[in-house]
Amino acid sequence: MCGIIGYTGSQDSVPILLRGLTALEYRGYDSAGLAVLNEYGQIDLVKKKGRIAELQKALTDICVSGHTGIAHTRWATHGQPSDVNSHPHMDISNRFAIVHNGIIENYLMLKQALMNEGVLFRSQTDTEVIVHLIAKFYMGDLKAAVRAALKQLKGSFALLVLCADNPSSIVCAAKDNPLIIGEGEGENFIASDIPALLEHTKKIYRLADAETAEVTPDGIEIFGADGQRIQKAAQLVDWDVNAAKLEGNESFMLKEIREIPAALANTLARYTGKSNPLLTIDKKAFQNIDKIVIVACGTAYHAGLVGKYAIEKLVRLPVQVEIASEFRYGNPIVDARTLCVAISQSGETADTIAAVKEAKARGCVTLAVANVVGSSITYAADYSIPTLAGPEIAVASTKAYNSQLMALYCLCAHIAKVRGTLDKTALRAFYAGLKRLPALAKKLTEGDGGLIKLAASLKNEHSIFFLGRGLDYYVAMESSLKLKEISYIHCEAYAAGELKHGTLALVEEGTAVIVLLTERAIAEKTLNAVSEVKARRARVIAVAPKALDLTGAPIDKIVRIPDCPDLFAPVLSIIPCQKLAYYTARARGFDADKPRNLAKSVTVE
Ligand code: AGP
Repeated sequence: MCGIIGYTGSQDSVPILLRGLTALEYRGYDSAGLAVLNEYGQIDLVKKKGRIAELQKALTDICVSGHTGIAHTRWATHGQPSDVNSHPHMDISNRFAIVHNGIIENYLMLKQALMNEGVLFRSQTDTEVIVHLIAKFYMGDLKAAVRAALKQLKGSFALLVLCADNPSSIVCAAKDNPLIIGEGEGENFIASDIPALLEHTKKIYRLADAETAEVTPDGIEIFGADGQRIQKAAQLVDWDVNAAKLEGNESFMLKEIREIPAALANTLARYTGKSNPLLTIDKKAFQNIDKIVIVACGTAYHAGLVGKYAIEKLVRLPVQVEIASEFRYGNPIVDARTLCVAISQSGETADTIAAVKEAKARGCVTLAVANVVGSSITYAADYSIPTLAGPEIAVASTKAYNSQLMALYCLCAHIAKVRGTLDKTALRAFYAGLKRLPALAKKLTEGDGGLIKLAASLKNEHSIFFLGRGLDYYVAMESSLKLKEISYIHCEAYAAGELKHGTLALVEEGTAVIVLLTERAIAEKTLNAVSEVKARRARVIAVAPKALDLTGAPIDKIVRIPDCPDLFAPVLSIIPCQKLAYYTARARGFDADKPRNLAKSVTVE
């Protein structure tokens, strides 16, 4: 949830920390701060409530510099956004400073015990207990003190620690939260995510659970849970340095919508080439199963529903799609004959990773579908396959969703091939249909398609309903999430046939209802629901393929999408809904890239 960056080297750390925070701001933006070891061997601390711009403003009035520093941009979990609750946190003697991402579940007990020992707390955060524990255990060896403190903690953390006694060293630790060390020339970097490192280095080391490290300008030492030094192979990041930059676009979300065609093409190319990752997976993982469970959250969950539909249609294997946070505590009925597929753009979503671990513990084979190479979920699962959407910075997921659908279609075709439910001719036709999608998507991602005007007419709505049946219902769910999470208008997605069983009571004159109408075989049924809401004088907007004749249908506005096989329509029908969400948020004056209360990577429960 939070963004963490550290630097140690020959440059002044402050500008590097600030640029790193800006690259990580999508991970949380309630407050920001930094701590720097100055030339006198003291730690200078500056932290402010609000966006990083507030921190930058505060730094113009004071001179802070030093070659080693840590910084943090916060998504508040414990303690309201405020200056004092911002990170970094320091001990009473101002000898240590820490930044933390995660949740310390037993912090109240630890805080009480420390207060009983006379420790004075400044903030309401869980994080502050960590720095006081380190101060308590410190006998001159910072790594040992950090390890001793970590042993007291229950919960999750990615942690950077500064100590005034160690002028060029940063000690770091990770458990159930991402922490990446970037290796430079005579300087080194640490961050919670790759975009903050890209301008400096592409050579990275990911800390695994319970590992710690000491980073200095000339060295990166990584230690296992037992404190013994370990050798870890570096990974090379294959993202372009500009991929995580705005590059002149008005926002990341709009840039990433425009990147959907390339994301689809790149993902499909991977699964239809010699480096198809599915070919590396033991066929038994797809043969010796009697069901599939898909676990995911939010947008990834909605992608999983489309995957369910495709696999059940073409493989005739039962597929359950579970919200990861429900699955992990739901005593799920899964076993060695269940394939568990976990979908996650960030690969760091705590609930989804925990669901994978729960499925593994119950004997399932686990397969992660992730957009970030080397992310935590790819280590948690038995197998992992990528989406190739490139870095997605906007909190509202768009190109990653479309790429998840593409990867799931390819997974479906692969399973159908392995289990013999699709012959070569059918498979050829299937892939031919997928190959047309990037070009068809491009027709929708360019220009605004009259959606800016439509958004202006929706911007004052108090609530908006999305309807659909079958695949259209799943796209309605994703469209509803997109619109609500960035425009803050209440939205609900409903199965078209379900509306009359209660929610129709909410529909009155002028209520905006957006209907997904791409499944031509059942379009007439969905039109019944349209007539029902129209009879209550609702305003009806439909998203439909060009070939669907809607003459005489009681629809006020039709947004057309190119024709394609019904099964693939979600890849296209979501695009006008993504754009409508964006333009509505913009019309309401909101920052679509950084919606309130949210963060890009939900690394806490
Ligand atoms: C979607 O726009 C949201 N950002 C959110 O629902 C997101 O999809 C969810 O948190 C899952 O994230 P993940 O794909 O990184 O696991």
